[in-house]
Amino acid sequence: MKIRFKIRRFDPMGVESNEPYWQAYNVDVAEGMTVLEALMTIADRDDPTLSFRRSCRSAICGSCAVRINGVPKLACNTQVLPEYKKKGQMVIEPLSNYQVLKDLVVDFTPFWNKMEKVTPYLVPSKEPRGGWRIEKEDAKAIDKAQKCIMCGSCNASCNSLEVDRSFIGPSALAKAWRFVGDVREGEKKRRLQRLSEEHGVWDCVRCIHCTEYCPKDVDPLEAIENLRARAMEENITDNPGAKHVLALVDSVNRVGRLDEAAMTFKTLGFLRSLGMIPFGLKMEIHGKMPHPILFPAIERIDEVRRIYKRTEKERKKRKKKG
Ligand code: SF4
Ligand code: SF4
Ligand code: FES
Repeated sequence: MKIRFKIRRFDPMGVESNEPYWQAYNVDVAEGMTVLEALMTIADRDDPTLSFRRSCRSAICGSCAVRINGVPKLACNTQVLPEYKKKGQMVIEPLSNYQVLKDLVVDFTPFWNKMEKVTPYLVPSKEPRGGWRIEKEDAKAIDKAQKCIMCGSCNASCNSLEVDRSFIGPSALAKAWRFVGDVREGEKKRRLQRLSEEHGVWDCVRCIHCTEYCPKDVDPLEAIENLRARAMEENITDNPGAKHVLALVDSVNRVGRLDEAAMTFKTLGFLRSLGMIPFGLKMEIHGKMPHPILFPAIERIDEVRRIYKRTEKERKKRKKKG
């Protein structure tokens, strides 16, 4: 079957123009052919100037990630025919949220810099719990994070990274959990403190894209939630993210609903909250401003508080167990 591949190309040294452009190639696709094999066929037969990365061809090295029909995927792990049948087209682009160097090759420097920032290796504890042997249960906590092949697809699909390139990003955070969650790690608290700073773990907006598009089921969002929970357990709460969580917990416990006005003050502090006044006025004009004084605690608030008490008891029990 002949399939038309529409490829986003870019040559910074282009003779006529260095603007990105589209180029189409027809490829004879056989059953089982992967997108990477199709790209290699194009480069071999039609156009040796087409640039893309690849190495293992077995979904191990992580180098062939590109955007296929708008979604970050490993080219070597995506078969053309099922993809084409599903989407009715074959559009290949470089990963988003990275600078394009040439055609489908993007600059991974920021990716590696962020990875380096989370100290991607074990800093051994002087007295690891239970010695150096790692129990099955403990290994399970970091199992998923260990599967990362550094393909960068999660960062490419991250909504938070799209608006703020300083955000540390899901791949580095999944790696950070790999070590914070390791019972043999000796610098957990220091790591959590650094991760709780600006552009760290609290900048994730929980869009779930990283988990959805990771080809190895690493589940970066779960890693992020684990890091946040551990940071809270360690009382690392002097930052807007943790303060927001505490304000939310307090609000629901107090009135059984979100008291956005109080949450803003508790999260940002008095002075920074003043900057939110224009936004608050806009909400008021559109009837979106909650009025906790006019609408006090919900009916049967005592039931909500009972749930809180029980959860708190369970949490303390778990903490004691370690
Ligand atoms: S869940 Fe968070 S880290 Fe993952 S892609 Fe969305 S914003 Fe980024
Ligand atoms: S977490 Fe998944 S998507 Fe992100 S770099 Fe690792 S393997 Fe790729
Ligand atoms: S070529 Fe190695 S993951 Fe695709």
